[in-house]
Amino acid sequence: MNKNNACSTCGKTECLENIPGNCSIVIFGASGDLTARKLIPSLFRLFQKDLLPENFSIVGCARTPMDDEAFKDKAETAIRESVKSDIPRKMLDIFLQNVGYVSGAYDSIDTYKNLCSKLDSIESKFPESPWGRIFYLSTPPVLYGGIVEFLSAAGMVKDDEDAGKWRRLIIEKPFGRDLSSAKELEKTLKKHLQERQIFRIDHYLGKDTVQNILMLRFANAIFEPLWNNRYVDNVQITVAESIGVEHRAGYFDQTGLLRDMFQNHMLEMLSLVAMEPPASFEANRVRDEKAKLLRSIIPFPMEKLGERVVRGQYAAGKVDGNEVPGYLSEEGIRSGSATETFVAAKLAIGNWRWNGVPFYLRVGKRMPRRVSEIAITFKQIPHSIFMPLLPENMTQNTLILNVQPEEGFALNIQAKKPGPKLCMGNLTMDFFYRDILKGAEPPEAYERLLLDCMLGDSTLFIRNDTIEISWSLLTPVLELWENAGDSPAAGKLYSYKSGSWGPDEASKLLTGSAVWRKP
Ligand code: BG6
Repeated sequence: MNKNNACSTCGKTECLENIPGNCSIVIFGASGDLTARKLIPSLFRLFQKDLLPENFSIVGCARTPMDDEAFKDKAETAIRESVKSDIPRKMLDIFLQNVGYVSGAYDSIDTYKNLCSKLDSIESKFPESPWGRIFYLSTPPVLYGGIVEFLSAAGMVKDDEDAGKWRRLIIEKPFGRDLSSAKELEKTLKKHLQERQIFRIDHYLGKDTVQNILMLRFANAIFEPLWNNRYVDNVQITVAESIGVEHRAGYFDQTGLLRDMFQNHMLEMLSLVAMEPPASFEANRVRDEKAKLLRSIIPFPMEKLGERVVRGQYAAGKVDGNEVPGYLSEEGIRSGSATETFVAAKLAIGNWRWNGVPFYLRVGKRMPRRVSEIAITFKQIPHSIFMPLLPENMTQNTLILNVQPEEGFALNIQAKKPGPKLCMGNLTMDFFYRDILKGAEPPEAYERLLLDCMLGDSTLFIRNDTIEISWSLLTPVLELWENAGDSPAAGKLYSYKSGSWGPDEASKLLTGSAVWRKP
């Protein structure tokens, strides 16, 4: 059923991509932002790379009334805005030929019946091979459980994998709002679907640079011996965005950054950086190690949470030279809202490898620029032979994994400067993906993840146990923030100027000689 496609980067046989069999992709929440910004353009790019199945269909479903033609127009606009190069008309027409739309209420069985007829009518044009179906939930999270119930009632998630008629569900984060709602959602999912049918997506796992963490660690001999508390001083993970809440106020103000990005993107990256080597690069072996690592995070001390977690909210300021409003003045934000747009935390991992090494995680909106990076700072040398230079006069080695936008990595080392005998300085050895891509754009994370789901590979998707472990860690924090407000134990909600690196109080989390990096 699958045919192979040559690796466009190096041509090696190990990295041949498989092409999935016939597949329909149904997007719930299709009139929304994610569909236009990410999903449709990613599917189109897969199509351009000949990685979509020979026969495929994309069917949008949402409450907004629209016909097939209007949805096709929307899809075309989204593609043209996202894919910068010229796209031949013929190519677009082929891509759009089996694109359709069904409008209706998510809590009406008729919507699902209409959807089913639409899919049947498209798929029956190519009856020679079986069709799999993906249901992508990109609606507000409160609707997930209900949609699954209706899909099941309409008989649409009955799976026949062996006959190629698989049914899979991609579910966008956040998975629940806390531990109990996540468990509730899981109960609904498991009532109707088997685990192999469920693909919980965190798009950070689809980023090449995030995948590269495992390659860097486990395909090289030189890093792993140093990857422990004997040599590592501290680890900093930063995800900074220059944008504010944009037009997502309705969602974001009810959610906050701890749920929106910390519970998922930040903890996922932490688990990849800190986990033990898995037995193989196979979905459950990798996920076992991630779960084990997350389980080793020492719970925050609730009586002095403010010393371990600092939250903030952006005030007016200047980003990229432009004046921007404060969070409370953004359209759609509740007056006096205490929703956090910045979180910094110091985490401790209670295992042999990491005992005593602080992990500093920081995520924020309206910061000076968009940058995500993981910085591993190594310990000072134990003794200096270059007197009068002392160990503390020499910059500690740092390995920086640049997740975005300058994808790559860099190693800072001390080296001799030409000239005077004791002249030494900091040297950066770096590598940028842009140099091997030669101007081409790196693949969008959603391309990898959509393709993997079509192929049934769940390695880069999240398993339910890791979700529950992360909520167990964070639910007490959310509850304290909600119930104890600005109390000294909970820590205040600090204001920070847009265009800054967050509230000054975040610096108090750092111990020893550590300082927050300004990447
Ligand atoms: C999403 C969050 O998961 O990630 C958004 O909901 C955030 O609030 C986005 O803006 C950031 O993603 P990226 O890939 O641009 O870093």
